[in-house]
Amino acid sequence: MADSPNCDLKSLSPLQLFERVTEQGEKVRALKAGKAPKDEIDAAVRMLLSLKLSYKTTTGQDYQAGLPPTDLALINNGTTKEEDDDFVDPWTVQTSNAKGVDYDKLIVRFGSAKIDTDLINRIERAIGQKPHRFLRRGIFFSHRDMDQILHAYENKKSFYLYTGRGPSSQAMHVGHLIPFIFTKWLQEVFDVPLVIQLTDDEKYLWKDLTTEKAYEYAKENAKDIIACGFDVNKTFIFSDLDYLGSSMGFYKNIVKVQKHVTFNQVKGIFGFTDSDCIGKISFPAIQAAPSFSSSFPQIFNGKEDLQCLIPCAIDQDPYFRMTRDVAPRIGYPKPALLHSVFFPALQGAQTKMSASDPNSSIFLTDTPKQIKTKINKHAFSGGRDTIEEHRKYGGNCDVDVSFMYLTFFLEDDDRLEQLKQAYTSGELLTGELKKVLIETLQPMIAAHQERRKQVTDEVVKQFMTPRKLAFEF
Ligand code: TYM
Repeated sequence: MADSPNCDLKSLSPLQLFERVTEQGEKVRALKAGKAPKDEIDAAVRMLLSLKLSYKTTTGQDYQAGLPPTDLALINNGTTKEEDDDFVDPWTVQTSNAKGVDYDKLIVRFGSAKIDTDLINRIERAIGQKPHRFLRRGIFFSHRDMDQILHAYENKKSFYLYTGRGPSSQAMHVGHLIPFIFTKWLQEVFDVPLVIQLTDDEKYLWKDLTTEKAYEYAKENAKDIIACGFDVNKTFIFSDLDYLGSSMGFYKNIVKVQKHVTFNQVKGIFGFTDSDCIGKISFPAIQAAPSFSSSFPQIFNGKEDLQCLIPCAIDQDPYFRMTRDVAPRIGYPKPALLHSVFFPALQGAQTKMSASDPNSSIFLTDTPKQIKTKINKHAFSGGRDTIEEHRKYGGNCDVDVSFMYLTFFLEDDDRLEQLKQAYTSGELLTGELKKVLIETLQPMIAAHQERRKQVTDEVVKQFMTPRKLAFEF
């Protein structure tokens, strides 16, 4: 395992290289000031020149003392002064644009890659099936290293899926379903193991919750996740508070990550300040650890080199930029990612649907009547002020929340296109579009509630017991 301080310079991030050059410069100065032997000074100068060359090769910029690399996408969450109109991190999603976050810009800022038609076609060829509507419609829009996963799959090499949920309350909302619906599809079409992390520790650290309450929410949320249809023989769901203490493999990986990430880096990535508790500062290592197969010896039989694929909304990417930066330095493959856009708040795409604002959300516990009232009352409309104007000028699907929700949940591509045409031309009114959405969501959520009722405590226990899954490694 390459878990040594003398790691390959190529695996260092631009900021780490910058820090190494600075340290080496200081060392040369100290040697000269202390009148050290000439060969010692010469060796230190050669090292300095080689570090400066690596810095230039990696960043395309000359090293300048006191001036860290300018492309800080990896380290500072990609925000720059000119572009801070869209803000995306694991806690906040905010933009002033009614159409939502500019995802093309986000791809550039975060340094990920667009899921383009070529990649979608390659997925279709690999699995021999029509790609999921979330891929066809650009809802999963960005990736890191999905080509490597497909290469592995095409060469009969296995990989595993990892996703998660922070159980902050009893009720999940419809937006939370997006990564789970997609993960279930991925599990089915690729037939691979899946691990699901419930970060009850994170929610204890960030919210006003007791550890007992957070663990209780984890088990409740597990019921909603299981109700999405995961296969118990292929899925391990775990609560951090419960599993971490019992798995040496998992804890070893946490400390390896902790050893390779500095306080400066997590401050840059997550915006932590000196007054944040140390639990928050070290938490990112806990979300990183499931990206490494050795965290689950009971499933992967101690194998350390299995690649991991993480489906999530793009708000979680900062955790995995950090993870990918560390992985080669501790001898593990970098996890691959598939990122989704955000399911918007009822009030509009300027922010994501969030459980902390009940009016912005449709919960998985809502009754048909609540769903109807929330949509009719709160769903932001791209329609015109009067029926006459609407008939004359048509509605705007780009900002209309009901239409956006239908792009997530209406399976029939032709029907969606017809609705778009009819709304844009003014033939279909806002109330009529809302009715289509209500009639789509009501049965979908009722069916979810029905499946959830079948998930007993005993079923949850089965999913959450550390065990071998139906795969040989
Ligand atoms: P959490 O509980 O905030 O969100 C769970 C998952 O849902 C996604 N998500 C959304 N997707 C679309 N539209 C929305 N409005 C929306 N809101 C949330 C999140 O991106 C996430 O995929 N720290 C994490 C838990 C976690 C995790 C992971 C998530 C641990 N390990 C690995 C993804 C992958 C959290 O609090 O997620």
